[in-house]
Amino acid sequence: MVRYLNTGEARRFYDRFGARLDSQAFYEDRALEVLTGAARFDQAASVLEFGCGTGRFAERLLGGLLPPDARYAGCDISETMVRLARERLAPFGGRAMIWQSDGSFDFSPAGPPFDRIVATYVLDLLPPAEICLFLAAARQALSPDGLLGVVSLGWGETLPSRLLSRVWTVVHHLRPELVGGCRPLYLAQYFDPVAWRIRHRSISTSYAVASEIIVAAPATKREETEDE
Ligand SMILES: C[S@@+](CC[C@H](N)C(=O)[O-])C[C@H]1O[C@@H](n2cnc3c(N)ncnc32)[C@H](O)[C@@H]1O
Repeated sequence: MVRYLNTGEARRFYDRFGARLDSQAFYEDRALEVLTGAARFDQAASVLEFGCGTGRFAERLLGGLLPPDARYAGCDISETMVRLARERLAPFGGRAMIWQSDGSFDFSPAGPPFDRIVATYVLDLLPPAEICLFLAAARQALSPDGLLGVVSLGWGETLPSRLLSRVWTVVHHLRPELVGGCRPLYLAQYFDPVAWRIRHRSISTSYAVASEIIVAAPATKREETEDE
């Protein structure tokens, strides 16, 4: 049976890991570029980031991808990550707000609705049922014309990346703490086609590490009724 890190285990792991998280940039950055190209952040007035880590992506958002008056809110379960993100985002003053969450999907501390919700390399830590809970909460918290942008470890389309995804999955099965609780996902399968409209889906591979990128819009009430 697959074992996932529970909230306490994940919190302890990321508290210890701290600023070393930024060393993952070598495979994350290309996928984040794809996300920024597809999620039209220049048209957003508010963004929520779930699992903000050290605030690296938030800094890029507030540093120019978002309009100058847009606000950003980020949450993370790790006290260390919350501290690092607050320090990094201090120059943006009141535009940025970070809170330490309890592992749940309650976004009310940041005052929904949001024009964008993003989660990069976080859903790949969660058990399948929690990924579904996150998507349901994100749908509730998005404005009607909002967009959800998610990036996770994925399954590559080249032989080296497929091999790496396999090895990564085996290691995750045996000792999830060795890979920070993350494993490659087929992310698109979690999007209920009645509830979501996928606007962009792609796989980006960097140093044989594959990432899946999805940008999706909540279906309108009318679309949902037609689909049922
Ligand atoms: C692999 S790191 C990715 C961090 C950041 N998004 C990035 O791309 O660099 C996963 C982050 O998710 C946080 N996390 C894990 N489970 C969470 C949950 N249920 N709610 C909020 N944050 C969570 C961890 O503390 C960690 O900071």
